[in-house]
Amino acid sequence: MTINGLKVYTEGESKNRPMLFIHGFPYNHKMWDFQAEALKDEYYIIRYDIRGLGKSSVGDGQYTMEMYVDDLFAIMDKMKLEDPVVCGLSMGGYILFRAVERDQSKFGSVIFCDTKPFGDDNAGKLKRANSIKQINEEGLKSFTSSFVPNCFWQETIDKKHDLYKSVLSETNKNSDTGVKGAQIAMISRTDTSGILPALKIPALVICGEHDALTPPAVMSEFSSVMAGAVYRTIPDAGHMAPLENPDAVNLVIRDFLAGKLEQ
Ligand code: MLT
Repeated sequence: MTINGLKVYTEGESKNRPMLFIHGFPYNHKMWDFQAEALKDEYYIIRYDIRGLGKSSVGDGQYTMEMYVDDLFAIMDKMKLEDPVVCGLSMGGYILFRAVERDQSKFGSVIFCDTKPFGDDNAGKLKRANSIKQINEEGLKSFTSSFVPNCFWQETIDKKHDLYKSVLSETNKNSDTGVKGAQIAMISRTDTSGILPALKIPALVICGEHDALTPPAVMSEFSSVMAGAVYRTIPDAGHMAPLENPDAVNLVIRDFLAGKLEQ
């Protein structure tokens, strides 16, 4: 279905507890294929392509993090999701952190994958400015072929090469405008770390052990100030843990939701 110009995909039965996934940058809903497949018999799975990426509306490319949160809330409200589990990876996690900061009462449980609540530092902002320049001067493929390999653990690229190639090829289907717009929204996002100690809902934080973008040391540290959060490292995975080691991620998600994980 289409909500607010966003492509929304559902699997499983709507009578089950809703589980909504927000993908990372510059990917699309397909990065959650392994979770949707494994969890669709127990949960009502909802995935969507965020504004500007995948098959969702690109518009003028003038996006803000607030617009991404408005989009998420529009989907949750329109679909009347009750007590949802919402899971975001990296940029999807930035959206989720800000959404929780705006109104945590809308969420049942939250899962933060390979992400962080902090804004970009100066070096990070300049890196994104450079990426935008790269897209303008050399095209999207030049940017994705330098950005996407950093998201994966090198062994995943070597051993699961077809998976890696198909993810890379999906990123090249995006429009330049959408990819640049998402970067500008990330540059201008706020620091949401103030919500960490004020969190009242169950939270799971997971990180690929070889994640070079949001490493385990960073994620375990901020999760230690999140009220009641459970942190787990996922072995044999980089920044794209749900794709790189889906069995381990699915098991941790299942155990977390069954209340089986100790802090
Ligand atoms: C992502 O996976 O969403 C990106 O690494 C986010 C970012 O560039 O900060």
